[in-house]
Amino acid sequence: MTTEIIGVDQFNAGADKRAGELIASGRLVVFPTETVYGLGSDATDPEASKRIYAAKGRPSDNPLIVHIAHPEDAEPYAVTCEAYYRLAAKFMPGPLTVILPKKDSIPSETTGGLDSVAIRCPAHPIARKLITLSGVPIAAPSANLSGKPSPTNASDVICDMNGRVDMIIDGGESEIGLESTIVKLDGDRAILLRPGAITVDALSCVLDRVEIAPSVTEMLGENERPLSPGMKYRHYAPDAPLVLLDGEDSDVLEFMKSSPSSAVLLCYDEEVDALEKDHRLIAVGRKNDLASVAHRLFSALREADRLGASVNYAHLPPRDGLGLALYNRMLRAAAHTVLKTDKGK
Ligand code: TXA
Ligand code: MG
Repeated sequence: MTTEIIGVDQFNAGADKRAGELIASGRLVVFPTETVYGLGSDATDPEASKRIYAAKGRPSDNPLIVHIAHPEDAEPYAVTCEAYYRLAAKFMPGPLTVILPKKDSIPSETTGGLDSVAIRCPAHPIARKLITLSGVPIAAPSANLSGKPSPTNASDVICDMNGRVDMIIDGGESEIGLESTIVKLDGDRAILLRPGAITVDALSCVLDRVEIAPSVTEMLGENERPLSPGMKYRHYAPDAPLVLLDGEDSDVLEFMKSSPSSAVLLCYDEEVDALEKDHRLIAVGRKNDLASVAHRLFSALREADRLGASVNYAHLPPRDGLGLALYNRMLRAAAHTVLKTDKGK
């Protein structure tokens, strides 16, 4: 299929209506959101969901997120509750996805056979306009080929999706760079299934108690079933192994300095001067600014593949605040390979 690639100017000068019509007729449109790019189609059309799975090469038991323009637009599709509206008042539109019991209007193809549905109300103006113009809720996973990092710019989208979708809307770089926080509401329980820019502390301001699903930080056993099916799949992994270095920043820097030149180092901006003479580097952001690391992480993992390292080394992120989301994504990219750099001290 031929993929039409349009910029923001074209979108605003009339292509927006065509994009909406494509979605409404079950075709595939990649669009920017504030988290990562999404690969969208009509969430109420089972054939459209099948096309999404086919374009991504994604197993069809991994459910899709349903994007709506306003929190109350969830009513026809999900059984909402008071906690949902409390979360919505504080965090929607924004990088939050809430799992609720589904209604019959959402076909089981969209939810991977589950009786729950993931609802998200994105903040990005192009995403919001597309939802409104299409007149349907938009099912959209991240717009990467299954197993690759989520795309955070149009060139990474084009790499994966050119020829596989009807249209790609180039909205520049994703502001956040990590996928939305996912919370499952189950009666009085709120369970964090995927950490993101809305942190546990932020959620705890609105919800009485937030449990963290074991799959967020732990490796699942062979036969364990995660609450979020996506957690069981290999994800984000670069071609060469990624090893996360756990230790004081100064010890990690020493380790990186003495690593072989065939390694690629994902280092902080502040470390570039100390490392660039003998190594191939990808600067992933500023040391004390995790948002800058979140913004660059996924494109850095793709860049690592282009550099063709024998091994990739990176700092193990902290587990608090936004760090938990980085920790979760990087642990999975590293298949949980962590090396202590201050052993014996
Ligand atoms: O930021 C985001 O959330 C992006 C943008 C495009 O909105 N979307 C995204 O979608 O990351 P995706 O499909 O790549 O990840 C959705 C995750 C998967 O891990 C999936 O298993 C989980 O959400 N999920 C979806 N519906 C679910 C449900 N009913 N119960 C549990 N987990 C669910
Ligand atoms: Mg994804």
